Amino acid sequence: MQVRLTLLMGAVLVLFAPTMVAHAEGDAARGKTLAYTCQGCHGIPNYKNASPTYSVPKLGGQQSAYLVAALKEYASGDRAHPTMHAHAASNSEQDRADMAAFFAGKGPRKTPVVGTAPAAAAVCTACHGADGQPVGPEYPNLAGQHADYLVQALRDYKSGKRKNAIMSGIVGALADKDIESIAAFYASQTGLCDTKQIADSGQCKK
Ligand code: HEC
Ligand code: HEC
Repeated sequence: MQVRLTLLMGAVLVLFAPTMVAHAEGDAARGKTLAYTCQGCHGIPNYKNASPTYSVPKLGGQQSAYLVAALKEYASGDRAHPTMHAHAASNSEQDRADMAAFFAGKGPRKTPVVGTAPAAAAVCTACHGADGQPVGPEYPNLAGQHADYLVQALRDYKSGKRKNAIMSGIVGALADKDIESIAAFYASQTGLCDTKQIADSGQCKK
């Protein structure tokens, strides 16, 4: 397992190196206008996805490179979600970069780690950091994200509904109780914020 993970991480670094360079600068002001319709769900604190029921993810302070990647996956259908597909399908590269710059704002809030990470989270820190604040722009920030959304995401990787070469390999080893405890740990950290805070002030409130 250890050897496999090390190999995997090597492969990940190689895979992501070119995309980091190619990422376009976004115009956050234009992104704010484009993202007006997104606020109907992402800008309402604790708004839920219907069937299955889970919280709409927080985007405030999220890594812009990850946001661009997620929007592309919805557009192409690699990440299956009918509503998000409808919203993402007609976006250009520039639209994605601009909205990502808007949502990322001045970045996440950062505080020292709260509590103790469950043992099963030890393999996550290489990419997502000790408290969910990631080590590189291509990895999503998990700190402060809704716990039920994190559980849903991890289950979707496990079932194969959400496809990602890196994450699918990792979640296979997680039991349901690990998924719950890891999600609760990351959700209790300080990091991401509701998109409404970004719309109001361009940053996550202190
Ligand atoms: C009808 C409600 C709704 C609207 C409107 C909406 N979203 Fe979403 N969005 C969701 C839900 C639910 C998810 C989680 C879907 C999943 O499980 O993959 C999501 C996920 C996302 C994600 C992935 C976040 C992550 O952490 O992986 C991004 C990025 C995103 N939305 C951006 C947008 C943008 C940009 C718009 C506007 C153009 C928009 N959304 C409009 C409900 C909505
Ligand atoms: C080798 C790097 C790496 C490791 C280790 C790793 N991840 Fe990830 N993780 C990623 C990448 C890359 C993505 C984005 C994948 C995508 O686009 O769907 C991701 C996505 C996620 C998401 C979805 C976030 C969102 O906003 O939708 C969750 C939740 C997650 N990881 C949790 C974990 C947990 C829990 C562990 C440890 C058990 C872990 N990851 C280990 C790289 C990693």
